[in-house]
Amino acid sequence: MIVKASMKTALPLCFTLLSFFKATHAMDLDTTDATSICDATALIQDGMLDYYEGTRYGGAVGMFQNPYYWWHAGEAFGGMVENWFLCQNETYKVLLYDALLAQTGADYDYIPANQTMVEGNDDQGIWGITVMGAVERNFTDPDNGAPGWLAMVQAVFNTMYSRWDSENCGGGLRWQIFTWNSGYNYKNTVSNACLFQIAARLGRYTGNTTYLDVAEQVFDWLVDVGYVVLNDTANVYDGAEIDTNCTDITKIEWTYNHGIVLGGMAYMYNATNGTSTWKTGVQQVLNGAASYFFKDGIMYESACQDYSTCNTDQRTFKSIFSRMLGLTSVMAPFTSDTIDALIKTSAEAAAKSCDGGTDGHTCGLDWEKQTNDGYYGLGEQMSALEVIQNLLIHDRPAPYKEDNGGTSKGDANAGMNSSTTSVLQNNLNITKGDRAGAAIITAVILSVLIGGAVWMLF
Ligand SMILES: *[C@@H]1O[C@H](CO)[C@@H](O)[C@H](O)[C@H]1NC(C)=O
Ligand SMILES: *[C@@H]1O[C@H](CO)[C@@H](O)[C@H](O)[C@H]1NC(C)=O
Ligand SMILES: *[C@@H]1O[C@H](CO)[C@@H](O)[C@H](O)[C@H]1NC(C)=O
Ligand SMILES: *[C@@H]1O[C@H](CO)[C@@H](O)[C@H](O)[C@H]1NC(C)=O
Ligand SMILES: *[C@@H]1O[C@H](CO)[C@@H](O)[C@H](O)[C@H]1NC(C)=O
Ligand SMILES: *[C@@H]1O[C@H](CO)[C@@H](O)[C@H](O)[C@H]1NC(C)=O
Ligand SMILES: *[C@@H]1O[C@H](CO)[C@@H](O)[C@H](O)[C@H]1NC(C)=O
Ligand SMILES: *[C@@H]1O[C@H](CO)[C@@H](O)[C@H](O)[C@H]1NC(C)=O
Ligand SMILES: *[C@@H]1O[C@H](CO)[C@@H](O)[C@H](O)[C@H]1NC(C)=O
Repeated sequence: MIVKASMKTALPLCFTLLSFFKATHAMDLDTTDATSICDATALIQDGMLDYYEGTRYGGAVGMFQNPYYWWHAGEAFGGMVENWFLCQNETYKVLLYDALLAQTGADYDYIPANQTMVEGNDDQGIWGITVMGAVERNFTDPDNGAPGWLAMVQAVFNTMYSRWDSENCGGGLRWQIFTWNSGYNYKNTVSNACLFQIAARLGRYTGNTTYLDVAEQVFDWLVDVGYVVLNDTANVYDGAEIDTNCTDITKIEWTYNHGIVLGGMAYMYNATNGTSTWKTGVQQVLNGAASYFFKDGIMYESACQDYSTCNTDQRTFKSIFSRMLGLTSVMAPFTSDTIDALIKTSAEAAAKSCDGGTDGHTCGLDWEKQTNDGYYGLGEQMSALEVIQNLLIHDRPAPYKEDNGGTSKGDANAGMNSSTTSVLQNNLNITKGDRAGAAIITAVILSVLIGGAVWMLF
C-alpha cells in the first residue's frame, strides 16, 4: 500500500558511503539521438532489474524485492512497457508479459489474493494505468485463455467504480479497499485520480461515452471537494478524512497526484475533440506542475527532496509523473512546447545523476546535483528511466485506439462478478444497517477472502 503522504515514516535514506565507490564515467546522453537515449535507458532498466525477484530462484514473478511493495512493481512495469514501445526493444517483452499476467489475480482484476491484506484503491489504480498502457501500445495480448489486457482494465474500472462512496464527502473513493486497513477513512486524491484517468483512457480508446461520463463525475468531485483547485497555477492536494466531510485537506502536493490528474485531463481533452474547458484546465494544472516541481527546468519532488525526507514511495513519484507529462504532450499537442522543454532539461540532469554505484551508472534522487547524490534504489532508476525515455514520445505513434491499431480483447462487464466486488457490496449493505456488527463482518469477509469458500453465508 502506498504510505500515506502525511506519515513521516522516513527510513534511513542516505547512503553516503556510496559516493566512496563512485566510478568516474557518467552516463552519455545525446537527447537528440534515439540510439543514445535507448542505450542509456537500457542501462537504467538493467539497474531496475537488479531489484527484480521474478527471475530469481523462488522469487515471485512480477514482484521486486523488499522494501518494494506490489504497487511499486505496477508503477515500474508501466515505465518498462513504455520503454519496450518507445525503444522497440524486445529484450524484456516476455518478462513483462509474465509479470503483468502473474499479478492480475484469479478474477483478472488486479486484486490478487495474496495482496488482499494491503491493497488500496490507489495500488489497484496504478496497475490499471500500467495495463491500460499495454492496451494502448498494442502489447501482446494474453494467449493462454486469460482475458485480454483491455478486459482486465475494464475489470479494474468496474471494481473500482463499484466502490464509489456517495455516503461520505458527496462521493469519491476511499483510500483503502478493505475496512481493516488503516486509511479506510481517508479519501485520497490519487485513488480518485487513477479512476478518473482510467475512465478517460477507456473512453478515448473504446469510444464508449459512458466512461467519459464517469470520468467527468470523478473529476467534478475532485474539484468540488477542493482536492483540485483550478486557477492559473492549479493546486492538487493529497486528500482528507471522511469524519471532517473531507474539509480538513492535507495540503501536500506530490508530483504523481498532479501528473495523474493532468494526464487524465489531457485524455479528456483529446477524447472530446479539444473541448475548451478541458483545454483551460490542462493549461492550469500544467502551470501548477511547472511551478511547483521544477527548479531551473529540472524536475524535483518539492515536498521532500530538499529536506532529505522522501520515503520509498515518494522516491518513485517522478517516474509516473514523467510518463504523464509525455502522454499529455501527445494528447494535448498545445502543451508540447512547454512539456518537451521541461523533459529535456530534466532528462539531461537525470542522466548526470546516473554515475553512482560500483557499476558507474546508478541513478540518484536529486538531479540538480549533476552527479549521484548518494541515493540509490528502484525509485531512482524508474524515475530516470521515464524522464529520459520521454524524449522519444513524439518519435513513435500516439497511444492507439480500438479503431486505429489497438487489438486487445475487451469485455465491458469484466470484474462485475469478482469475489471482492460481491463481498464488499454485501459488506456495505450490511454495515449500513448495523454498524456495530462491522467488526464481525470484517472477520467474516477475511475468512471468505482467505478461505474463498464460505459464499453461502451471504
Ligand atoms: C535492448 O535491451 C537490452 C537489455 O537492456 C540491451 O542489452 C540492448 O542493448 C538493447 N538493445 C538496443 C538496440 O538498445
Ligand atoms: C501472489 O500470487 C500470485 C498469483 O496470483 C503469484 O504469482 C505470486 O507469486 C504471489 N506473490 C507472492 C509475493 O507470493
Ligand atoms: C460534504 O461535502 C460534500 C462535497 O463537498 C458536500 O456536497 C456536502 O454538502 C457536504 N455535507 C455536509 C453535511 O456538509
Ligand atoms: C490558486 O488557489 C490556491 C488555493 O486556494 C491559492 O493558494 C493560490 O494562491 C491561487 N493561485 C492563483 C494564481 O490564483
Ligand atoms: C469527436 O469527433 C469524432 C469524429 O468527428 C466524433 O465521431 C465524436 O463523436 C466526437 N466526440 C465528441 C465527444 O465530441
Ligand atoms: C489527440 O491526439 C492526437 C495524437 O497525438 C493528435 O493528433 C490530435 O490532434 C489530438 N486532438 C486534439 C483535439 O488535440
Ligand atoms: C497489434 O498486435 C496485433 C497482434 O500481435 C498485430 O497483428 C497488429 O499488427 C498490431 N498492430 C499494430 C498497430 O502494431
Ligand atoms: C459502455 O460502458 C459501460 C460501462 O462499463 C457498459 O455498461 C456498456 O455496456 C458499454 N457499452 C458498450 C456498447 O460496450
Ligand atoms: C457473471 O455471472 C453471470 C451469472 O452467473 C453470468 O451470466 C455472466 O456471464 C458473468 N459475467 C462475467 C463477466 O463473468
